Amino acid sequence: MKPKLLITRKVFPEVIEALSAVFDVDHNLADDAWTPEELRRRASACRAIYVVASDRVDTALLDACPALVMIATGSVGYNHIDLAACTARGVLVTNTPDVLTEATADMGFALLMAAARRVSESERWLRAGQWDRWAWDQFLGADVHGSTLGVLGMGRIGSAIARRAAGFSMRVIYCNRSEAPGAAALGASRVTLDELLAQADHLMLVLPYSTATHHIIGERELGLMKPTATLVNIARGGIVDDAALAAALAAHRIAAAGLDVFENEPALNPALLKAPNIVLTPHIGSGTRSSRLGMAMLAARNLLALEAGEPPLTPLNAQALKTPR
Ligand code: DGY
Repeated sequence: MKPKLLITRKVFPEVIEALSAVFDVDHNLADDAWTPEELRRRASACRAIYVVASDRVDTALLDACPALVMIATGSVGYNHIDLAACTARGVLVTNTPDVLTEATADMGFALLMAAARRVSESERWLRAGQWDRWAWDQFLGADVHGSTLGVLGMGRIGSAIARRAAGFSMRVIYCNRSEAPGAAALGASRVTLDELLAQADHLMLVLPYSTATHHIIGERELGLMKPTATLVNIARGGIVDDAALAAALAAHRIAAAGLDVFENEPALNPALLKAPNIVLTPHIGSGTRSSRLGMAMLAARNLLALEAGEPPLTPLNAQALKTPR
């Protein structure tokens, strides 16, 4: 009998095909997120679960799944998973780093350019039929080339953004808890958070979400930014206090923002929708076909490795394999 695998969301057919060769697969064809109760019910007899970033993996789910040995998330972020609880129960967790780095860095730059140069704002105005003449001061934005880029969280994606910034002759500063390996070679210098906020013409948020980074950008931090600055969040909702950001934009305390992630997404703080100088996208940072397929296949390959008795490719808690069950 094949081991049972639950796939919580609709995924590429080639992924189902590869996994079905080894697992007895139950997958969510409707593509509506299941309630926690439904997820627990369906997962209760499973050996493995294939989740996405919007699925919460908590102790209630783990307790409901006594046969569970592995969770594969089709995301690089894993703040939706109680990793310590998984490790304590000997449940291996894998994520999908690297395969989405370049696509996500591209999206960071897309949002930066669009927000700083007021692309969405001016397009909405044009589509509303308001353009009746050219004018010297129409939709003046901020220079991206030659400006100072602040990166909060200089990891894989932050470094990929810093590489792109070199092509725009930008000065790059970053804030991390420790020196980022490779940052000096990219010409990026480490500064404190307050220095980052005060010096950046454009601030890019690329750090993982945790209780320590919850609302790391709030009213005080927004107040330290330049009034001409752009804020871009391609990391996770909750890193920015969305209400404080909406208020800062409305009061022109910063110039613009580009957001791909939100607190409580897919619900949005209505105040963000009212800010004119903001570009909003629906969590599509890694959304190119090659990147999303790469993520989906990497999650599958981790599951297949487990069944083949091979080491996982991208484990988050390899020590779980040694936890007595
Ligand atoms: C990730 O991989 O963490 C992206 O945000 C997609 O969920």
